[in-house]
Formats: sequence, C-alpha cells, structure tokens
Amino acid sequence: MGKTLIIGCGGVASVAIHKCCQNSAVFDDICIASRTKSKCDALKDKLAAQTATRISTAQVDANDTAALIRLMEAYQPEVVLNLALPYQDLTIMDACLAAGAHYIDTANYEPEDTAKFEYKWQWAYKERFAQAGLTALLGSGFDPGVTGVFCAYALKHYFDEIHYIDILDCNAGDHGYPFATNFNPEINIREVSAKGSYWQEGSWRETEPMEIKRVYDFPEIGPKDMYLLHHEELESLALHMPGIKRIRFFMTFGQSYLTHLKCLENVGMTSIEPIEYQGRPIVPLQFLKAVLPDPSSLGPRTKGKTNIGCIIQGTKDGQDKAYYVYNVCDHQQCYQEVGSQAVAYTTGVPAMIGAMLVQNGTWRKPGVYNVEEFDPDPFMEALNVWGLPWQESFDPQLVD
Ligand SMILES: NC(=O)c1ccc[n+]([C@@H]2O[C@H](COP(=O)([O-])OP(=O)(O)OC[C@H]3O[C@@H](n4cnc5c(N)ncnc54)[C@H](OP(=O)(O)O)[C@@H]3O)[C@@H](O)[C@H]2O)c1
Repeated sequence: MGKTLIIGCGGVASVAIHKCCQNSAVFDDICIASRTKSKCDALKDKLAAQTATRISTAQVDANDTAALIRLMEAYQPEVVLNLALPYQDLTIMDACLAAGAHYIDTANYEPEDTAKFEYKWQWAYKERFAQAGLTALLGSGFDPGVTGVFCAYALKHYFDEIHYIDILDCNAGDHGYPFATNFNPEINIREVSAKGSYWQEGSWRETEPMEIKRVYDFPEIGPKDMYLLHHEELESLALHMPGIKRIRFFMTFGQSYLTHLKCLENVGMTSIEPIEYQGRPIVPLQFLKAVLPDPSSLGPRTKGKTNIGCIIQGTKDGQDKAYYVYNVCDHQQCYQEVGSQAVAYTTGVPAMIGAMLVQNGTWRKPGVYNVEEFDPDPFMEALNVWGLPWQESFDPQLVD
C-alpha cells in the first residue's frame, strides 16, 4: 500500500511493529530504523518468518535531520511513524517535510534540557505541513491518543455539549520489583515528578506533584489510589472540545512506587541538571535509567490489568448525562501475543492504528492535527479489531 518508516525500536515500537506485521494488507513494506541497529535486526529476525510484510532495517541518529533526510530519500516512505523519544519529534518532522512523508507520533515534543512538554513547538508546523500537502498526526498512543478519540466519539454520538472530562489511567500490574517504570524511565519520571495541573473555566490551575489524590473503584480491577497529573492531551482537548469547563487527568500509583520516587528525588537522582562525576558530566536521571530495569524486560514478570478511559459529563437534548468509556488490558495476554507488557501494548496498538489510517487515506488532512480532530469511528472500530476492545457505562461512579 505504501512504505512505512518506523523510527525507534524500544518497548512501544516493538508492539507497533508486531501489529504492523499482523496487518500486512496495509503495511506491506516497513523499514525499522533506530539508534541501535542490532535491536532492529533482532526484531526483523523474529518476525520475518511469520509475516507477509517486507521488513528492512537501518541505523539512524534521529537527532540528525540530514541523516534522517538521507534515509528517507533512500527508502522513500509514504508515512513515518516516530516511536523514538519526544526529543526527536522536531528533527523527524523537519525531515518529513524535506522528503515529502506523512508523520505520526505518540508523545509531544520536549526539549531534552527542560522537563516541559507542550504542543506549541509542533503546532507551529501546521502551515508548512498544510502547504506541503502532508498530514502530521500527533499523539496516537493511548494517552494521548485513544483518550482523545474516546472524547471525540462521545461528542459525536452521545452529547450536544461536553462540560467535564476526567481521564483515568490505572495500571494495576505487578512486576515484582520494588521500583521500575513501565515505559522509558527518563520520560516517565520527568512526567510524574513535574507539578500537576488541570484546566478549569478557561485557565490552568497548578498543583504540587501528587497533591490531589482520589480513590476510584476501577471496573475489573477494584479500588486504587490515583493522583492528578499534568498530561499532554489536556492541552489539545481543552482547545478542541467546545464548551468544556474542566478537564483533569489522574494516574494510579502504589505506595512503594511513590516512596521510592520521593527518596530518589530527595537525593537528587531524578535531576536533569548535569553533574561532574570522575571528570565527566553525567545527568543523574540518565544514570538512574541505566540502573533501573529495562521496561521491555518487564513483560514476562508483569501480572494484572490496566484500565484507561474517560469519564465524560455534559448534556444531550437539554438533559445532564454521564458516560464512561474505557479499555481493560491484561499484561499476561499482551505478553503471550507480542512479548510485551500492557503499557507498551496499549501504546503500540494505537500507534499502528493511527499509521494505518494515515497510510490508507482515511485520516488524511494537510496540516498538523491531534487525534480528536478526525472522525473517531474508524479508529474506534480498529481498536476492537486490533486488540484494545472498549466498554461503555452510562451510569459511572464520578470523581469528585
Ligand atoms: N501516548 C502514550 O500513551 C505513550 C505511552 C508510553 C510511551 N509513549 C511514548 O512512546 C515513545 C517510546 O517509548 P518507549 O517506552 O518505547 O521508549 P524506549 O523503550 O526507550 O524506546 C525508545 C527507542 O528510541 C530509540 N532512540 C532514542 N534516541 C534515538 C535517536 N537519537 N535516534 C534514533 N533512535 C533513538 C531508542 O534507541 P536505543 O535502543 O539505542 O536506546 C529506542 O529504540 C516515547 O516517546 C514515549 O514518550 C507514549
């Protein structure tokens, strides 16, 4: 159908590539390119015998725009799926513009030396993608990603106006380690140690990290402590959901995780300020990443489920209405299918779906867009087909 270049070969990419290889009718030719080519080759060797998808591999430093352009000119992809780190979003977007390829990612740009993510850097590319006739689809993971599609689906089918959105991300998986992160430790710890914030009545309200705590009784999991965080889809949904009055994001954390995190923070191990060690500069958080378990090794050990979804309140035909749409995913079932735990699975599957919808022309619109700006129906159908079925409740427990 057209060639797809996948950049990055970590936990999320591994799942997305497994799924592309299950979907050879759309992904008949993929190239896996990453910093460490041996990881791309190992995945190719694992999958080549069981798929009709033609797989090639390449080494690339995605911080180097010229190297990316050379790779794209040689491979000629129609679509580029960026599953490297948020630091590389802009160089990859620049290369897509130069080489004439559509762009998809799962996380918004974050400068490596400042722990701050926001969409302004990528939204600034809107005009250039529009003029080039290319689509850039931002945030096609689970959160952001499916959560935005859930909101667009609710607005299309169930509400005249949406007033309140609570996004709840519960991971009740147990990997048996005292402390480990389920996706890239550096990105994960930067996210959860930042100040929290939510959007209310037209402005941002900032909180201390983990200041706001609630307990929620998650379907198929049970009651869990969850904490308010800032999260990137709040920014785009606050803009794209007409009439919205408040939008919040909560994530569950166990006490052991929080105690370890606090201790690491207190001793300076989560800092991104370089320090001098044995005559050379090191970044404490990057050193911590090197000693923590690799998230891609957690698959065989992680047991339990995730539940991620949106509780949406608003009005339909003048009546107040509440709606909860969520997916429950089992860590061990994911591992049996693709060799990864559910956090990588719930991100890699929507990344493949976003790339599929751009690749097959269903979601093409010249410019830079977030997922909730497209028709949600084909994405919702694909979630049921490709391993992330969703469930609905019209009488959910609300979050106060
Ligand atoms: N939206 C969501 O729901 C969601 C959820 C989780 C994660 N994410 C995002 O998904 C992305 C991948 O996360 P992950 O857990 O898979 O991370 P990961 O396991 O650390 O994988 C990152 C991959 O990118 C490669 N890479 C890093 N820097 C590179 C560079 N300069 N050039 C080329 N390749 C480079 C790494 O290469 P090496 O193998 O050499 O290290 C690795 O293969 C991140 O952006 C993360 O924020 C999104």
